[in-house]
Amino acid sequence: DEQKSINTDIVTLTRFILEEQRKLGSRATGELTLLLNSLQFAFKYIAHTIRRAELVNLIGLAGVQNATGDDQKKLDVIGDEIFINAMKSSGNVKLVVSEEQEDLIVFDTPGGNYAVCCDPIDGSSNLDAGVSVGTIFGVFKLLPGSTGNIKDVLRSGTELVAAGYTMYGASAHLMLTTGNGVNGFTLDTNLGEFILTHPKLKIPKTRAIYSINEGNSHYWDPKTVAFIESLKKPQENGKPYSARYVGSMVADVHRTLLYGGLFAYPADTKSKTGKLRILYECFPMAMLLEQAGGRAVTDKGERILDLLPKKIHDRSGIWLGSEGEVNKFIEATK
Ligand code: AHG
Ligand code: MN
Ligand code: MN
Ligand code: MN
Repeated sequence: DEQKSINTDIVTLTRFILEEQRKLGSRATGELTLLLNSLQFAFKYIAHTIRRAELVNLIGLAGVQNATGDDQKKLDVIGDEIFINAMKSSGNVKLVVSEEQEDLIVFDTPGGNYAVCCDPIDGSSNLDAGVSVGTIFGVFKLLPGSTGNIKDVLRSGTELVAAGYTMYGASAHLMLTTGNGVNGFTLDTNLGEFILTHPKLKIPKTRAIYSINEGNSHYWDPKTVAFIESLKKPQENGKPYSARYVGSMVADVHRTLLYGGLFAYPADTKSKTGKLRILYECFPMAMLLEQAGGRAVTDKGERILDLLPKKIHDRSGIWLGSEGEVNKFIEATK
């Protein structure tokens, strides 16, 4: 009956982060907690803005291109401004790398101790069709003694202290890792709170789903073509893999985390270093997948998190998902 179904002890994101902080004991300065609170405000406000986009005519092109050559949507620009302002006002962010900003952004925040890399609106080419988009983020702590410069972000992904995304679907889903597992939260718009809905999320060890833009197969390495073709044949269980491709990385990765399977965006003769950007797409998703018990590797089968970007918008080919599928890819193409 009604009484039993009411959860009277819900774990909000704020409570969860404070509990995580307490687990760290004296080592925790509370700064990451404050930063994550500013991040969650940005997600709530972007979610609100996207929901109203149709009403206030925010759909459509802004008429300019960004540093990576993408046509900017109005919501790319608005999401970017909301995110940057939330980071600036947090008081403890010194640097921001954004897909929508050509150069590194340095705040004159005294004491700012974090660098945040973000893709404010991922999947924006799908926005006008109402397909789920999201915000992807990765957090570095400034190098010891640094007052905030490019060296704080041109680092290996293994140095990230937090990463995740918020997918703006039917509900807003925040998937977060601070280095000890992945936890999923769903925005309760009435409370204005992210509620813990996927505690200690682990990706299934294997699942017969592959997710890749086959429209690029003409440009792929022959080994990639052969591997994807092999998935279309009946496997040991007599059934071929299913194909699922949304075209928003956040939506394709969210499905992969929850259902299992393989997501890939390989480099090819058209995009020689791949399409997805290392700092604010590949690294955060790779950290999440590894923390959920999955893998994320380059076209050569090397760990994505071990990459070292030379420029803030550098790209990489990426294969991520269940251990079973990523291992199959590595075996088939080594
Ligand atoms: P963004 O919208 O942030 O520029 O990212 C788009 C990316 C990513 O979301 C998705 O996986 C990929 O573009 C899809 O590319 P294709 O349309 O070439 O498949
Ligand atoms: Mn873009
Ligand atoms: Mn993106
Ligand atoms: Mn984007």
